[in-house]
Amino acid sequence: MTKMKIQNLTLIIALLSLFACQNQVQMTPQEKLISELDEQFTHFLSITPEGKEVPRSYPENNQIRMASPKDWTCGFPPGSMWYMYELTGDEKWKEAATKNTLKFEEVKNRTNTHDLGFMIYCSYGNAYRLTNIEAYKDVIIETSETLITRFNPTVGCIRSWDFGEWQYPVIIDNMMNLEMLFWASKVTGNSKYKEVAISHADVTMENHFREDMSSFHVVSYDTITGKPLEKQTHQGYSDDSAWSRGQAWGLYGYTMCYRETKDEKYLDVAQKIADFIIKNAPEDMIPFWDYNAPEIPNEPKDASAAAITASALFELSGYSAENKESYLNAANKIIESLNSEKYRAKIGTNKGFLLEHSTGHKPKESEVDVAINYADYYYLEALLRQKNINTK
Ligand code: GLY
Repeated sequence: MTKMKIQNLTLIIALLSLFACQNQVQMTPQEKLISELDEQFTHFLSITPEGKEVPRSYPENNQIRMASPKDWTCGFPPGSMWYMYELTGDEKWKEAATKNTLKFEEVKNRTNTHDLGFMIYCSYGNAYRLTNIEAYKDVIIETSETLITRFNPTVGCIRSWDFGEWQYPVIIDNMMNLEMLFWASKVTGNSKYKEVAISHADVTMENHFREDMSSFHVVSYDTITGKPLEKQTHQGYSDDSAWSRGQAWGLYGYTMCYRETKDEKYLDVAQKIADFIIKNAPEDMIPFWDYNAPEIPNEPKDASAAAITASALFELSGYSAENKESYLNAANKIIESLNSEKYRAKIGTNKGFLLEHSTGHKPKESEVDVAINYADYYYLEALLRQKNINTK
C-alpha cells in the first residue's frame, strides 16, 4: 500500500471513530440503557430455539433450562420480546415476538394449570395490545374460558395446583392470573370472567394475609365448607415466613384489581403490602429470597421479586396521592439497583438474560441465584412504566 493510501485510510478510521463517539455522547442515559438491553437481549434471541421451547433460566446445573408449553414461564420470553419492541420500535423484535408468541397457542386448552394468565396474557396479551390483531384476542378469550373451569364457587377461588396433598390449594401467585379475566370481561361484555376474578381476590384477601400484611404462600380450602384448612409455604422458608416473590405477586395483583374495579379495598390492601415490602427491604431494595430467611445477609437474593415489585409500585404511585413519592422513590431505587452491574449482566454474558441473582425455589435448591426469564419480563415492564411516568 502506498504512503498516501495509508494516510487516507487512517483519516477515514479517525473520522468514523469520531462519528461513533459523537453518537455515543448524544445518547441520554435512558437511550444508552435501551441500546445495551437491545444488544444483550439479541444474545438471548440467538439462543431461543425455533421449536416449542424458550429459555427459562441459567445456569441450572451449568445449563440453560428450557420452558415448553407445559411450563408456567413459557409466556415470559415472548412477552419480553414485545416489550423490547415497545422500547426500541425495532421490527426485529416484533418479528421475534410474533414467532415466539404463536408457538404456545396450544396452552389455551390446558385445564390442568392456573398459570394461564402468565402463559398467555404476557405473550398474547401484549401481542394484541400492540398490534390489535383479532386472532390474538380470540386465543386470550379461549384461555380465559379454560381458566374459569378451575373456579369452585363453594371456595370462591380458582384452584392453583393439581399436585400435592392439599385438598384445594390456592397460592398468592394466582392473583396474577386474574388480569386476563378482567380483560376478557371488558372485550366480550360478559361479566362472568370478572366475577370469578373478584371472588378470587376477595377470598384471598380474607385468608392469605397476616396481621402485618405479609402473606402465606399456600392456603388450602375445604371444598365442602369452603373454609381454609391449612396455611403453609411451598417456596418460602417456613409456613410463617414472608416469601419474597409471594409478597410481590400480592402487591402487583391487588394494584391491578384496584385499576380494574376502582374498589378502594384493593387499594388499601395494595398499600399495606407495599408498606410491608418497603419497611423490610434491604438497603438496595432487592430482597433476599425470603424476608425471614435465617442467614440474612448471607442468603441468595431474588431480583425477580424486586422487578415485579418495581413494576407494581410504579403503577400504585399513580393511585395514591398520599404515598406517591414514597412508592416512586422505592420503585426508582429498585430500578437503579437492577440497572447496576451488581444485578444487570454484562453484555455478551449470562446467555443474553438481562438480570442475574434471582431465586426460583430455594427449599428445593432449584434455580438459586440464577437468571430467570420472568425477572427480565417484569424488569422490562418496570422500565417501560418508569419511562412513561418520566415522559408524562
Ligand atoms: N408461580 C411460581 C413462582 O413464582 O415461582
